[in-house]
Amino acid sequence: MTSILSPTPENIAVAAEALLRSRVVAMPTETVYGLAGVAYDDVALATIFTVKERPTFDPLIVHVLPPTGAADVHLTELGLLDHQALDARARERLNRLARAFWPGPLTLVMPRGPKVPDLVTSGLGTVAVRCPGHPITQELLAKVQRPLAAPSANRFGRISPTSAAHVLEELGGRIDFILDGGPSAVGIESTVVSVTEPPTLLRPGSIARDRMETALGESIGVALANAALAAQASPGMLERHYAPGKRFVRLPAPISALTTADAERLKTAVAEEEGPVALICVLGDPRAAATRLRELTGRDVLAHTLSLTGDPAEAARNLFRTLRLLDSTGAALMVAEPVGEPSGVLFAIADRLSRATTAL
Ligand code: TXA
Ligand code: MG
Repeated sequence: MTSILSPTPENIAVAAEALLRSRVVAMPTETVYGLAGVAYDDVALATIFTVKERPTFDPLIVHVLPPTGAADVHLTELGLLDHQALDARARERLNRLARAFWPGPLTLVMPRGPKVPDLVTSGLGTVAVRCPGHPITQELLAKVQRPLAAPSANRFGRISPTSAAHVLEELGGRIDFILDGGPSAVGIESTVVSVTEPPTLLRPGSIARDRMETALGESIGVALANAALAAQASPGMLERHYAPGKRFVRLPAPISALTTADAERLKTAVAEEEGPVALICVLGDPRAAATRLRELTGRDVLAHTLSLTGDPAEAARNLFRTLRLLDSTGAALMVAEPVGEPSGVLFAIADRLSRATTAL
């Protein structure tokens, strides 16, 4: 039986006590819900992989409380960071990014310290660390007094959960507790950056590259251009991920601008299944696109926009919830319009959509 616990001090104590007994607990964060276990505890770590059906080549993120002083000192004390292996420039980068964006949705990849088990890093020489901003996550960390390893609380390859109910859908019956911290405010997983030479964006998120570049006064490379290389640098960056159960295609152009050949391909794809078509527009009013899609396919259209007012942060917050919702309908096919020229959090949304979809 899996219980959803409201985040009272008593329930946070119950969750902390379970963690200290090598159990795993689903916890809220501001990005997505995580499946947490004590980061130093091999039994808990092994359980995380089993519960998620996650292959052990995909390393975990370690969550810590906000450092009171410089991040490098704090993380070295926790045994998470190998200080010797960090040159002066990387140390400066780590401290600056931590000062600017922690607590918050930023994960920093650094040389791995002596207390980090192999299961956390999948045997890599680096470890990913993040300091969550959600008050309930911080209360839990304070109660446990140990770093918590936590991947997103979904079964491997599936859509990340942004509410306690989503976690229940994913992991119900497999874990004892889900700590309910309300809907995730960011809604998309943390930005992942490697602080060693050359500084590299491994996974885009709501903290955009240009903001980090401003904080650092130097440019940050992007590991996404080549999917195979990106998967090596950050094993979780598989090309196909966040996948709904249904066929989900991305259009090469907005519905109003499809070529005749693309429109034919779309009709063929729809004809393979019964039922309406689900449409996801990222920003703005979806009605004109829905009308066009109905004309084109002769099917009813379930149209959703991620933000009617065109707000990218709202779109990020709604992304996974909307994918989950449309996946549970009787739609024949899910279709996403392209994001255009994405920057900021839209770049992260485009990244997640490209992994959740196949090309038309
Ligand atoms: O927002 C988040 O980051 C959420 C919440 C729960 O904190 N966690 C999350 O974890 O998204 P997960 O396991 O779903 O994604 C972790 C990502 C993967 O892409 C993984 O490959 C990468 O971080 N990662 C972990 N350790 C790494 C390392 N040492 N080097 C490079 N990438 C690493
Ligand atoms: Mg994940």
